Amino acid sequence: MAPLKICLVASEVAPLAKTGGLADVAAALARFLGGAGHDVRVVMPLYPRVRDGDRAIQPQDSMKEIALDFGERKIPFSICTTKLPQSGVEIDLVDCPELYDRDQIYTADPDEALRFALLCRATLEACQRRQWAPDVFHCNDWHTALLPLYLRTIYAWDGLFASTRTLLTIHNIGYQGVFPAETLDQLGLSGERSHFDADDLREGRFSFLKTGLMYADGLTTVSETYAREIQTEEFGMGLEGLLRERSDRLVGIVNGVDYAEWNPATDPLIPHNYSADDLAGKAKNKTELLRRFELPEDPDVPLLGVVSRLASQKGFELLPDALSVLLHRDPVRLVVLGSGEERYEKYFSWLGDSFPDKVGFHAGYDNELAHWIEAGADLFLMPSRYEPCGLNQMYSMKYGTVPLVRKTGGLADTVRPFDAANGRGTGFLFEDFDSNALLDTIRGALEVYRDPDAWLRLVRNGMAEDYSWDRQGKHYVDLYERLIG
Ligand code: ADP
Ligand code: GLC
Repeated sequence: MAPLKICLVASEVAPLAKTGGLADVAAALARFLGGAGHDVRVVMPLYPRVRDGDRAIQPQDSMKEIALDFGERKIPFSICTTKLPQSGVEIDLVDCPELYDRDQIYTADPDEALRFALLCRATLEACQRRQWAPDVFHCNDWHTALLPLYLRTIYAWDGLFASTRTLLTIHNIGYQGVFPAETLDQLGLSGERSHFDADDLREGRFSFLKTGLMYADGLTTVSETYAREIQTEEFGMGLEGLLRERSDRLVGIVNGVDYAEWNPATDPLIPHNYSADDLAGKAKNKTELLRRFELPEDPDVPLLGVVSRLASQKGFELLPDALSVLLHRDPVRLVVLGSGEERYEKYFSWLGDSFPDKVGFHAGYDNELAHWIEAGADLFLMPSRYEPCGLNQMYSMKYGTVPLVRKTGGLADTVRPFDAANGRGTGFLFEDFDSNALLDTIRGALEVYRDPDAWLRLVRNGMAEDYSWDRQGKHYVDLYERLIG
């Protein structure tokens, strides 16, 4: 099979800029495709955190100060390039200080729509200037979802893209990029109103994601269960009808894990490396982790871990009722790393203050500490309300940290319930979004923990799972091939 030309566009790519799993997936898929011999190019904004890192960034002389018409205004941008670490893949960085020099990757500023419309158009402009037409533009989430429409309208004249197809991956339908209809003028799209959802426009708004779902040639989301769920009213967040109409174009592909980064045998960020054959390092990591959180270093008390964006998606509403019982009555400890909505940060701070010997909370984003928790905890908690895929449960299994998850989306597809009778399974699942269900499941897990042989079996089952990109990436390649026919 001839190598494919793939242009992967994303608002975040690890390790350059990351707020969540999208960054991990964009980087790892690009690395996989590059490693498999495909011609892959990544495009993302040049944020200050990318510029200020210690990586080499090359300005491109032929792509300096390109002025793009956006309605009444011209927005100038340049393209610089850098390499995706541990790969030969080149990244195009869209340099536009006016739009991207902000403290955060995502903002609530009045030009937020323009920031990501520029990303879509700059991608197309860079391809034109290189005279390089990808077989597939692979767009990710709302930030890149206008690209298929731009390709069919403002850029339709260019025969360069005659055979190019578009794929849009939904990593999270909870973020749709909905803006007031007037914003279309800001984006230079006022002449293209007929292409947007008429009901939305009547109600004075339009949506990046919906528009992408209407015009992309192919649609994916990041697990099979989530692909089914988002076609229902409960999970579709208003887009279920459109997704049902286009269900012949929608495929669920579970994310892979980059085991070069997430492997306890080689991880340079954790204090002690270990493997399924020799778990001594894991026990030592638990002690180090307890020490880091200033909790009593008692190795026999089960330790629960959480690493998460603190958003309502993640289901932390279930914790207050479940934990108030558990922390009073059961010998158990909890360490939490997370940042996000203030109400959750306040709750975890309060919990830490209320149970200083049992709960440790670190507010913020800390990649090293995320690795420490994966390596040192016994159980990993993900009570998500919804979860398109989730990566931490897969990282946890590899680290011998048993996932305890709500049975939804990718969590349902990747964690198999442990059955003590036959020793099969990799974790614990609960179905109802209910704190009693969570509490019962935690207690069931603690019971297994008290049986060292059963626990060891469970830990090793998880460590033996393989969610590598070598397996998952092939599904994307098959799909790209189907799209280009
Ligand atoms: P989501 O993309 O919805 O946030 P995922 O489970 O797919 O959920 O991916 C989350 C990724 O972000 C994981 O790599 C996780 O380790 C990382 N992460 C989340 N919160 C933090 C944090 N506070 N500090 C460090 N890493 C974090
Ligand atoms: C999203 C989802 C998460 C998924 C990640 C990468 O942010 O919330 O479940 O793993 O994207 O696809």
